[in-house]
Amino acid sequence: MAQLPKIIQGGMGVGVSNWRLAQAVSRLGQLGVVSGTALDTLFVRRLADGDQGGHMRRGLEAFPFPAMARRIWQEYFVSGGKAAGVAYPPVPMHQQKNTRTLIELCMVSNFVEVFLAKEGHKNPVGINFLEKVQMPHLASIYGAMLAGVGYVLMGAGIPLHIPGVLDALAAHNQAEYKLAVTGAAVDRDTLMMLNPADYAEGPLPLMTRPRFLAIVSSNTLATTMLRRANGRVDGFVYESPTAGGHNAPPRGKLQLNEAGEPVYGERDQVNIAGLLELGVPFWLAGGYGNAEKLREALDMGAAGIQVGTAFAFSRESGLRPDLKNRLLEQAAVGAGKVYTDPLASPTGFPFKVAQLDGSYSDAGVAAARTRICDLGYLREPYVTPDGRTGYRCAAEPVENYLSKGGKIEETVGRKCLCNALLANIGHAQTRKDERVEPALVTVGDDLNTVAQFLEPGRSSYGAADVVRSLLSLVAEPDPAEETTAEAELPLAAAVSSS
Ligand SMILES: Cc1cc2nc3c(=O)[nH]c(=O)nc-3n(C[C@H](O)[C@H](O)[C@H](O)COP(=O)(O)O)c2cc1C
Repeated sequence: MAQLPKIIQGGMGVGVSNWRLAQAVSRLGQLGVVSGTALDTLFVRRLADGDQGGHMRRGLEAFPFPAMARRIWQEYFVSGGKAAGVAYPPVPMHQQKNTRTLIELCMVSNFVEVFLAKEGHKNPVGINFLEKVQMPHLASIYGAMLAGVGYVLMGAGIPLHIPGVLDALAAHNQAEYKLAVTGAAVDRDTLMMLNPADYAEGPLPLMTRPRFLAIVSSNTLATTMLRRANGRVDGFVYESPTAGGHNAPPRGKLQLNEAGEPVYGERDQVNIAGLLELGVPFWLAGGYGNAEKLREALDMGAAGIQVGTAFAFSRESGLRPDLKNRLLEQAAVGAGKVYTDPLASPTGFPFKVAQLDGSYSDAGVAAARTRICDLGYLREPYVTPDGRTGYRCAAEPVENYLSKGGKIEETVGRKCLCNALLANIGHAQTRKDERVEPALVTVGDDLNTVAQFLEPGRSSYGAADVVRSLLSLVAEPDPAEETTAEAELPLAAAVSSS
């Protein structure tokens, strides 16, 4: 059996865990994970910025369907990059049935991100998706699989039907995924479908079925996944409420502390003995970004840890350098503040926000932003009074949301995460009035502990510094040995091309 990674570098969307970060981590024999969230829009914006370094082009040249790759390049590449102050081109918002162009863009952009993360080494790379962002799933997963992704990790929902999707797509068979549509009767057709044969331009490559890790917040959810998933679940990442990004809501009635943050209690703690009984590998996440915590996790029987915040501040991550530096400066003196915002995310899940003047966490900046919904990844599909499928987001202009049957109380405090997360990585949209979309940085409660990775006199650190530091109290085989082991992965059941 191949060695499992002790460290999973957690998926961080949008584009914080990009191909550079994942490649740096996987090279060292741990698991680098790219974020698959909104990669289609991110890809278009990279091309509109002139494809600095030529990396997107290199990825496109490796894509197995060259005519498709050419179409996307011709549509979106801007030689020398768009002028400052000019808006990025729009990407259509996802729906139950997407246009061919959008499906192709998803496939290609996910392929390129994984392809680049895998360049120059033979170790596995993973991709992370949010279950709640369902509409791009099938094309995105297929694109990542065409690039040979080794692991698919998914949380923020209950991904019961992803294992079956992986099985179907590994054989280049048609895959189906049921879209959650609010108000839909049981017999309503909410299926999304992808038939790879409709996109292939020639013989299809041999593919292996990636391992599937479900990101869960409770023992119950892990048990449900094992009982009810439509295929193999290879392991779990158990994420506690201190983790960066979205958090599961507390169990029971929502209670807020004086600052307005959700209060978590005993019932929100994982039962490790229970996880061990399930008999599948698991990794612990949320405040595990130091050497002692890795040793503690291994001693308890975990396969290892998943770490996000520490990697988000490494040089390789996609986070904008100015934001990274300001927060690192705060962390270095223990002044970083993180707020668990129960309202910000249109998903309704609590979302961790680093408090940073001039960013969207600043009440003045939030109040000054004009609501607009033009990316739509978090839109909720619903049945309209005349029986069609409509799409709404609690962060869109309030009158639009209300006209779609949304409730006023659901709009309060909501923030446009789609635009903010792209702003975090240097691809903010510019509006007609030349306003630029504000950033909203998410980090874990342990923000201040990242200062441990800064060597004396240094103001930055790399992903390798994090990996080295985390492993400093445990024995770890040479990454080169890991590579050999991976080549013998028993799970990699190759299928013949169709
Ligand atoms: C900037 C940032 C973005 C994140 N985005 C995602 C995401 O898109 N999907 C996901 O499953 N988890 C996401 N997470 C959670 C991480 O994958 C990881 O589980 C978590 O950061 C671990 O806890 P830690 O922050 O204490 O290290 C994000 C975390 C951070 C810090």
